[in-house]
Amino acid sequence: MQSTLITGIGELVTNDADPGAFAAVTDAALVITGGKVAWTGPAARPPAADAVVDAAGRAVLPGFADSHAHLVFAGERSAEFAARMAGRPYRAGGILVTVEATRAASDAVLRANLRRLAAEMLRQGTTTFECKSGYGLTVPDEARGLALAAEVTPEVTYLGAHVVPPEFAADRAAYLDLVCGPMLDACAPSARWVDVFCEDGAFGADEAAAVLAAGRAAGLDARVHANQLGPGPGVRVAAEAGAASADHCTFLTDADVDALTSTPVVATLLPGAEFGCRQPFPDARRLLDAGATVALATDCNPGSSFTSSMPFCIALAVREMRMTTEEAVWSATAGGARALRRTDIGHLGVGARADLIMLDAPSHAYLAYRPGVPQIAAVWQAGRLVAGASL
Ligand code: NIG
Ligand code: FE
Repeated sequence: MQSTLITGIGELVTNDADPGAFAAVTDAALVITGGKVAWTGPAARPPAADAVVDAAGRAVLPGFADSHAHLVFAGERSAEFAARMAGRPYRAGGILVTVEATRAASDAVLRANLRRLAAEMLRQGTTTFECKSGYGLTVPDEARGLALAAEVTPEVTYLGAHVVPPEFAADRAAYLDLVCGPMLDACAPSARWVDVFCEDGAFGADEAAAVLAAGRAAGLDARVHANQLGPGPGVRVAAEAGAASADHCTFLTDADVDALTSTPVVATLLPGAEFGCRQPFPDARRLLDAGATVALATDCNPGSSFTSSMPFCIALAVREMRMTTEEAVWSATAGGARALRRTDIGHLGVGARADLIMLDAPSHAYLAYRPGVPQIAAVWQAGRLVAGASL
């Protein structure tokens, strides 16, 4: 089997000592064999390999695991963003603008947009991403959105319960029956996860719990859009449903923080949304100090957060959310893996999938220290060089 040695690594972020904490070594080397990490150790004593890459003092990290993205859509909402920046508040109703454009789009248009965003993510170091439906909101439109998502990632999430579409405005119970019945039946074969937007203006606690229970019965594990725009029951619903993750977590009570520390639910923070909606950032420090597991993700979508950049989210988390550079990088890699219940990614221990990025910088801290600067020199996915200069 072909092996590749990457040596001369100034800082190798492994996250492998304690699964819950950042770990790195300096002056390191790493061997990839058969798409997996076969060896890590000091650069001074590397084993022989078929090919050698000299990192020349640069940092190597696990690829980013972006555990929350909405990439199946058509159209754009830059005017809505500009209006928000001019003082207009964010409203969940903007989702319906994208629903209309998505329903009207051909498969080819949706596929091209999705692939463009997936490629954009990869170039920026994201080697695993989750992708939700939620802009179709009819049986055929949700089913095709998930089938398209399944072409580009195994982490596919059914979000029929994003908002109630206008044709059901007068009968939300009928829409919920659809989401929990025929729409779920059509979508479950393409999906691994079920999600619900639990928020004023979207779905209440009982509705959300019903959606997650129906999803569970169809074999889908739960994740929840929770406590994004104001305080609410989302985190509690996520904890009660045994969800993998409660996402946003911007407005939390002490009871919510307790729920996130006393259960395995990951708190996934999406600072791109607070940036794009000019909202207060979630209090990562409070969650971390209480002992919660925190993930960082982009929430890439055309409304609240049109960024696909994990480095941007790391920079925001460090500067605005008082996460240390180590915590932010852990949350964007191992934290995302936890939120997706994956043990093969997010770390570079022996046996991990060889998903890794080389920075054009000597340390992980540069991701926040040099915000907005492209610093991803190369990306390997399952051991294959997929982006960056051939080294
Ligand atoms: O995660 N919160 C619900 N859904 C998206 C926003 C979608 C949109 O505005 O189009 C979010 O922020
Ligand atoms: Fe979202």
